Amino acid sequence: MTTELKKLPQHIGFIIDGNGRWAKERGWPRNKGHRYGVKNLDVVIKECFFNYHIPVVSVYAFSTENWNRPKTELDFLFKYFTDYLNAKDFVKKYPHVRLNIMGDYTKFPEALVKNAKSVIEATKNETQFVLNLGLNYSGQDELVRAVNTMLAEKLEPKVDRATLQNYLYTKDQPLLDFVVRTSGEQRLSNFMLWQVSYAELYFPKIYWPDFGKEDLYNALLEYQSRDRRFGAIADSGTEA
Ligand code: IPE
Ligand code: IPE
Ligand code: MG
Repeated sequence: MTTELKKLPQHIGFIIDGNGRWAKERGWPRNKGHRYGVKNLDVVIKECFFNYHIPVVSVYAFSTENWNRPKTELDFLFKYFTDYLNAKDFVKKYPHVRLNIMGDYTKFPEALVKNAKSVIEATKNETQFVLNLGLNYSGQDELVRAVNTMLAEKLEPKVDRATLQNYLYTKDQPLLDFVVRTSGEQRLSNFMLWQVSYAELYFPKIYWPDFGKEDLYNALLEYQSRDRRFGAIADSGTEA
C-alpha cells in the first residue's frame, strides 16, 4: 500500500477534532467519543511511525482553552490520557519513540502527571522517532514561554530564528510539513504557530474516531500531490 507514496512528511501534525460530534451522532455521551478517539490515536500514531517511518509526529490532545469544558468531560479525558500514558505499555507499543510533552502537563491530576513523567523518563534516550504530545498546550503560550526563558537567561538582545527555535518544545526538530485537522473545521485553534509556518494543511470532513489507516493513506497521498514552493516558483514556470 505504501508503494505509491514517494514523498512523505518528516513531521506530521494532527489536530484530533470531532470526538464529541462523533459520539453525539450515535446518541452516545461525549466521553465515549473521547474513549474511541484515544484508541484511534494509538492506531494512527503506530501507522505513522512503523508503517510510514515518519520521524516526528505531533498531536494536539488538549489545549489551554479546553479547561473551559464541563468537569465531568475533563475527568473522562484525563482518565483516558492517564491510561494511554502507562509507561510499561508505551515502551512496548512504541519502540524507539521518545515522548516529548508540549505544554504544562503538571496542571493535570496527579496520576496523569506521574504517568507522563515515567514515560518521559523511560523514553528519554530514544532518537529514532519522537511523539510531541500537546497537553495543556497553546502555540501562543509556547512563544511567550520561549521569550520569557530568553529574558531570564539574559541572552544578548538580538535573537534570530534559530535562537528562538531553540527555546521551543520542538528544539532540534524539523518544522511541520503537514497538518491534518479532522471534523471539517478549518482553523488551527492555536496549534504550533511557529512550526506550522510552511506546512501543508488538510481538513478532512471525517470525525477523529473514524480517521483510520486508509484515511491516513489518502491524507499522505494528498500531501504528496501538493506543490510546495516556499516562496519560490514552480519548476515548470521559470520563464519571466
Ligand atoms: C477533540 O474532540 C478532542 C479534544 C479537543 C480534547 P472534541 O471534543 O473537540 O469534539 P467536538 O469538536 O466537540 O466534536
Ligand atoms: C482543538 O480542538 C484542540 C484539540 C484538538 C486539543 P477544539 O475542539 O478544542 O477547538 P475549537 O474550540 O473547535 O477551535
Ligand atoms: Mg472540537
